[in-house]
Amino acid sequence: MDALAIALRIVHILAGVLWVGGTALFFLYIEPTINKLGPDAEKFMDELINRRKAPIYFVTISTLTVLAGVVLYWRDFGGINTSPHGLALGLGGLAAIIAWLGGNLLIPQTLGKLSAIAAEMKAAGGPPSGELMARMHAVQERLRLIGTIDLVLLVIAVVAMASARYLG
Ligand code: HEM
Repeated sequence: MDALAIALRIVHILAGVLWVGGTALFFLYIEPTINKLGPDAEKFMDELINRRKAPIYFVTISTLTVLAGVVLYWRDFGGINTSPHGLALGLGGLAAIIAWLGGNLLIPQTLGKLSAIAAEMKAAGGPPSGELMARMHAVQERLRLIGTIDLVLLVIAVVAMASARYLG
């Protein structure tokens, strides 16, 4: 029995499920809700990001997925493998690594900007100025784009991981 392989697979798959599921929930439901609420989302975002530290959840589970995946890949193949099985795992892994880097670098930073603009709107009181609204829309668009790319990369990774062992 290869206990280390079992442990690595459990960490890899469990963390991967939590990562992809959390990302889908965030970008399909939470982010559109934040966008719709505009300045009224400020309290919710402060609670989610600064107090409950949602970004730490994503950094932790995505990093565990990637680390366990890279170790599993190395143990399976001992280097780059170009068989259909190895290529599927490698390319799926690459898509996930790009999502890991982009997601952890860009998403918290963009959410921070959105939260700051919402706070500015609240502090100014009354209807938000055209300039603040334009800034908020630009940041919302950016978040939407990052989320779409992130989800597409993660779906590519899941499809590749799920089918790799049957590709020979
Ligand atoms: C979104 C991120 C990821 C998810 C959801 C995910 C999911 C999975 C799942 C469900 C399996 C089991 C497949 C099977 O037994 O048929 C698997 C296996 C594997 N994954 Fe990933 N994975 C992800 C990212 C990565 C990354 C970044 C790498 C690094 C190259 C990687 C490398 C591997 C390897 C080598 C295996 C085969 C493990 C073995 O049984 O020896 N994965 N992955």
